[in-house]
Amino acid sequence: VESMKELPSGAGKIPRLNAVVLGEALASEEDDLVVPSEDFSRQALVSSPQQYLEMYSRSIQDPAGFWSEIASQFYWNETWGSEVFSENLDYRKGAVKIEWFKGASTNICYNALDRNIKAGLGDKVAIYWEGNELGQDGQLTYNELLEKVCQLANYLKSVGVRKGDAVVIYLPMLMELPIAMLACARIGAVHSVVFAGFSAESLAQRIVDCKPKLVITCNAVRRGPKTINLKDIVDNALVESTKNEVPVGLCLTYENPSAMKREATKWQDGRDVWWQDVVPTFPTECPVEWVDAEDPLFLLYTSGSTGKPKGVLHTTGGYMVYTATTFKYAFDYKPSDVYWCTADCGWITGHSYVSYGPLLNGATVVVFEGAPNYPDAGRCWDIVDKYKVTIFYTAPTLVRSLMRESSKFVTCYSRKSLRVLGSVGEPINPSAWRWFFNVVGESRCPISDTWWQTETGGFMITPLPGAWPQKPGSATFPFFGVQPVIVDEKGNEIEGECSGYLCIKNSWPGAFRTLYGDHERYETTYFKPFAGYYFTGDGCSRDKDGYHWLTGRVDDVINVSGHRIGTAEVESALVSHPQCAEAAVVAVEHEVKGQGIYAFVTLIEGVPYSEELRKSLILTVRNQIGAFAAPDKIHWAPGLPKTRSGKIMRRILRKIASGQLDELGDTSTLADPGVVDQLISLSDC
Ligand code: PRX
Repeated sequence: VESMKELPSGAGKIPRLNAVVLGEALASEEDDLVVPSEDFSRQALVSSPQQYLEMYSRSIQDPAGFWSEIASQFYWNETWGSEVFSENLDYRKGAVKIEWFKGASTNICYNALDRNIKAGLGDKVAIYWEGNELGQDGQLTYNELLEKVCQLANYLKSVGVRKGDAVVIYLPMLMELPIAMLACARIGAVHSVVFAGFSAESLAQRIVDCKPKLVITCNAVRRGPKTINLKDIVDNALVESTKNEVPVGLCLTYENPSAMKREATKWQDGRDVWWQDVVPTFPTECPVEWVDAEDPLFLLYTSGSTGKPKGVLHTTGGYMVYTATTFKYAFDYKPSDVYWCTADCGWITGHSYVSYGPLLNGATVVVFEGAPNYPDAGRCWDIVDKYKVTIFYTAPTLVRSLMRESSKFVTCYSRKSLRVLGSVGEPINPSAWRWFFNVVGESRCPISDTWWQTETGGFMITPLPGAWPQKPGSATFPFFGVQPVIVDEKGNEIEGECSGYLCIKNSWPGAFRTLYGDHERYETTYFKPFAGYYFTGDGCSRDKDGYHWLTGRVDDVINVSGHRIGTAEVESALVSHPQCAEAAVVAVEHEVKGQGIYAFVTLIEGVPYSEELRKSLILTVRNQIGAFAAPDKIHWAPGLPKTRSGKIMRRILRKIASGQLDELGDTSTLADPGVVDQLISLSDC
């Protein structure tokens, strides 16, 4: 971790952003227990704290036995040897290494589709697809999904994609997105899905890093009232990647006719191929490529403290077992459930809990292309009623944005099918938790506030909804096999009621194995800050009852609406603007997005401040990263507070950004303490 933030003061108290709005006045949210109903607990997979403790203790005392028992419910073409897993998390003892089920061979696509079909689920709906516009929908049974996956897998093989080759997928939430992921997995190719809100530059950067055999995209998508021309973005990215000596000779393009007709799509003959012209001509059966449990399944780029995104690499066997098991227990999954996760497959949540986790369980999944507030703020509940959704999994930012609207948008829909709710991506403030629980779930549905990360593959700290009372805003207790520890600055474990840095003590099957092409950065970022542990980058406190309260990132990562953005990425986009000399970015609290992006910008000598320039700086970030990373505020900075050795003192910038001017602390070590007054005087410009 290049520069670690001081722990937030009062760690453990999640900021209660909307407390005023709701007129809430809880003395202490830590003491505020919400007990699952007896009816719910009785039918739950884990129905009491005792049952959880028994299972949890076994998973820690005998991880090999615990996980191999669960793993044997899957299909393995060959099984693992005597060693279920091996690990070294301590870099002082040699290279950090994690392996699960090594030597066994399997295929995650086979386990998600063929295995479930063999068990009689062929005619069960695998995916309900809901388009952006009302009334636009589709569905695929497990049989139909397998046929579509096989056709694409056969096409991929026909163009030379082989086991171990990378394939970049830049698609919106069409059924073709999980189809493409599964098709890659079926033939042992490594998919790298890039969220279709990333800009051409970001896409190009990822293409250059992983050198895919082809890019799979679609011509355009409707998101709310807007049409976004994705093919143009891909075209620009491919020009850029070619300049960087990574030419990609094939771009498979799905025609999304409700967004754009093919005639209107820019085309490069020889490189571009319409999905609909080729894929349906291939056979609907495709043999499975058996891969080693430790063969790579996918790469997913995520933000870190430095500018370059990290290619988080997940392998096959452990990830499969872990995502399926966490899905089952954290949502108390039953075969009759209809499950909807609002995340996009461009993020880890969409990988583990739109595609793999639910499909491995033979679940029926809703995939939604559109925006949750389009045509109005009732769209989610309209979808819940339409498909009789029983498990609804979303992000606090969506909850907060919907709770600002009239609750009539919720209450005019029945929602009686709902039985479990879920939250992910950032701490959920207790007032949003309560609105979600009381208004959306009518005080009937437990909330699984799942804490995890791209790196962890699956849930790490999460309620098991029928097992114990919940505390609004707490992710509660660790999942089976996970040993979270809270450490102080020196890396000493702290026991009991405490706050500190959240680390994990051991490996778990879903852990990432490396950063693609940069094992050294993997070790430095995650395993060196606190020797012997995986460091999560998050602060956490544990209360007197042992509940965990996540307090946010302690590194230079900002969490905007549950999206991880590195301050360095935004800074490097800003300084690429010809009139920007220097930039420093910090997070500020934001009522809907959780955190907002606050940028201090120093201009080139002689350039005057202007509204136009402010817009142009923001546009530069949108173009280089994506709209979701656009700064909320540009603060003109004639100079930045630096130490004598030239290091920017972000602590001071954070205080200025959040208006805590009486808490600036010691500024005497600054090379030029006068810059602080200058900055304060420009706060409202
Ligand atoms: O800070 C934590 C926050 O999101 C970070 C991981 O981001 P990403 O890899 O993009 O994955 C997001 C989806 C898993 C974490 O380091 N975070 C995620 N879930 C929670 C959370 N913070 C508090 N509570 C959560 N439930």
